[in-house]
Amino acid sequence: MEFIKIRKPIIVEAIEIKKEVVMNTKNGEMTAQVGDWVIVDKKKGNIIMDAEKFEKTYESVDLPKRVLSEYEKKLETIKNGEKILTPEQKIAMFGTEINYIRNDSIKEFAIAIVKELPSYFFEIPASSGGKYHPEYARKPSGGGLHLHTVVAIKNAVEGFKSETRELSEIQKDLSIAVLLVHDGFKSGLAEEQGKFTAPDHAMISAKFFKENEKINNMLPEDLFEMFLRGLARHMGKWNTATDFNTNITRVVAKVPETDFEIFISECDYTASRKHNEVNFDEPTIRDDVVKEEKSEKDTEK
Ligand SMILES: [Fe+2]
Repeated sequence: MEFIKIRKPIIVEAIEIKKEVVMNTKNGEMTAQVGDWVIVDKKKGNIIMDAEKFEKTYESVDLPKRVLSEYEKKLETIKNGEKILTPEQKIAMFGTEINYIRNDSIKEFAIAIVKELPSYFFEIPASSGGKYHPEYARKPSGGGLHLHTVVAIKNAVEGFKSETRELSEIQKDLSIAVLLVHDGFKSGLAEEQGKFTAPDHAMISAKFFKENEKINNMLPEDLFEMFLRGLARHMGKWNTATDFNTNITRVVAKVPETDFEIFISECDYTASRKHNEVNFDEPTIRDDVVKEEKSEKDTEK
């Protein structure tokens, strides 16, 4: 029996082609057609595969679940001076949260936006002043902002079950996507990272994704617009900032209007309250019931 072995599976990153594209592959420059899959291999070169062969050869695996030890290991890397996380490491940090998303296109979108997060996001505390936020989110270099985001998403997943806000299935998934990156540029864009919270980080983030060509055509226009609105309005009524030197108060973000936007701001707000310490070992399960979406006919009435 000991001669019978099974070859270990190889995990690859694969992308479904939505628009015909010419690319460099293992066999030189080739065209990938709509429906083909590209197996990404930065060292040996990409492989283009038609859908039928791809289905036979590959199957999806769940993203790695984040466990605390894994998290601490990543944090250690950051502290040791390797400040730059790879896109794969960033995704691993949110493996659990991305897996809450049920719709495949939104999940793919969520993976893409998480890859765009600056590395500092995974290191800094949730606020520079330390006035708000629970203990776990306040330690310097403790990854508090990342943990705050994890908790805001826990709030969302629990919130879906209460049904106090009217959200469609797509909006539920999209709210997770918004929360994943809502504070993504809290200290400004990566290149110009300041030491302190950028009061207009909601607008910085919305602008960043709106102008990002890798991101801005992944979702249908109306959904992308909804995503941007959720981002820009996540701070709720706390949308002004006062300059302590000049004492001038200015508006730095928009206020939420729709149930979707209010829901997001509530998830964020609750996560930021000092009294809400979290037991991270207690899992949050997404098991809200899928509601039948109203058909267009119903909504027209
Ligand atoms: Fe937040």
